[in-house]
Amino acid sequence: MREVEAIIERYGAERRHVIAILQDIQARFHYLPREALLEVAARVRIPLIDLYSIATFYNCFSLIPRGEHVIRVCLGTACHLKGGTRLVEALERELGVRQGEMTADGQFSFETVRCVGACALAPLVLIDGRYYPKMTQRKLTQVLARLRRARPAAEVAR
Ligand code: FES
Repeated sequence: MREVEAIIERYGAERRHVIAILQDIQARFHYLPREALLEVAARVRIPLIDLYSIATFYNCFSLIPRGEHVIRVCLGTACHLKGGTRLVEALERELGVRQGEMTADGQFSFETVRCVGACALAPLVLIDGRYYPKMTQRKLTQVLARLRRARPAAEVAR
């Protein structure tokens, strides 16, 4: 938890910095580990229940481990009609996990979302918050391959 201490030190152990602290913890670990929340609660003197309220209110936070890259497939009506379900099936085949799960190497998490308000871009996939409009299975395979290639060699060797 030394890294969590360093994050808290960077902002100062004050309530007004709690969201920024949690964002940095999320960025570092790809989720909010319970031990990290306990550390923040103790250092910032904020009830743990308040941290859980924040963590569950904002969907940028996750209480379960997420991959280095978070893939979200929209399954709202427009995206569903334009092939969102086929993209889900392609991802399940390609990554070997089901929606809501993380790959064994920790590189990818895969979730589905309901309409994100960009129906003209259907079928839409978001990867790490970036929009990939009019997604096809072929384009999705290419994006995954690019992300895999971009992974530092040290992490691949783990
Ligand atoms: S249904 Fe996918 S963005 Fe609206």
